[in-house]
Amino acid sequence: MSSVYRNALRMFAVIMLLAGAVAVAQADDDEHEGGRRASVSNAKWQAECGSCHVAFPPRMLPAASWREMMSGLGKHFGTDASLEAPVALEIGAFLEKNAGTGKQEPTAKPQLRISETRWFVREHDEVPERVWKNPLVKSPANCAACHTRAESGDYRERNIRMPE
Ligand code: HEC
Ligand code: HEC
Repeated sequence: MSSVYRNALRMFAVIMLLAGAVAVAQADDDEHEGGRRASVSNAKWQAECGSCHVAFPPRMLPAASWREMMSGLGKHFGTDASLEAPVALEIGAFLEKNAGTGKQEPTAKPQLRISETRWFVREHDEVPERVWKNPLVKSPANCAACHTRAESGDYRERNIRMPE
């Protein structure tokens, strides 16, 4: 084997390794990060799922969670959020298509709360207890209490203001 050829092969292997590392890093980001990826949208999702709380971005839960949630909207966290079947189908397809890649134990029941996912707990472990208890926050699901641009799907650090 000529050394030129061998060097080319070695170079190729390095490039493939780097490409793999980048892909893994991106998959991790896509799972939850607000600003780093162009926001996806759907008019029915925005209107129906953004009427009681912010329309939580699809990437924040895996497809299995959205499927489970959309099949139980009649009993949605103590409220009735049911929709006409065609609307529910369209929203469900949108959520699943753009879902996050968060992995769970294959046997575990799909998580329905973003605020109970592993990444959420990790990202928020420095939020002091008194802030969670602040009446302006009320619930970890109240993203907009701190993420001032949650309404537009932007969760970047620079747009966080925690109530005192
Ligand atoms: C009738 C009001 C209402 C509508 C409409 C509604 N929700 Fe909710 N949703 C709630 C309430 C109430 C909670 C619980 C909030 C809390 O615990 O503070 C909730 C919680 C959630 C959570 C969990 C948040 C967390 O991390 O704790 C998700 C995800 C969610 N809703 C998705 C949706 C989707 C998707 C739709 C549209 C198909 C939708 N919601 C429509 C009332 C609604
Ligand atoms: C009590 C205030 C508060 C609430 C409520 C809250 N967050 Fe956060 N969030 C923070 C803080 C503080 C950070 C950490 C910023 C840092 O150190 O990187 C954070 C980080 C994040 C990040 C990572 C941002 C980045 O670029 O690093 C995401 C994504 C996020 N939150 C999503 C959510 C979602 C979705 C909700 C609602 C379901 C929510 N948060 C509710 C305060 C809050």
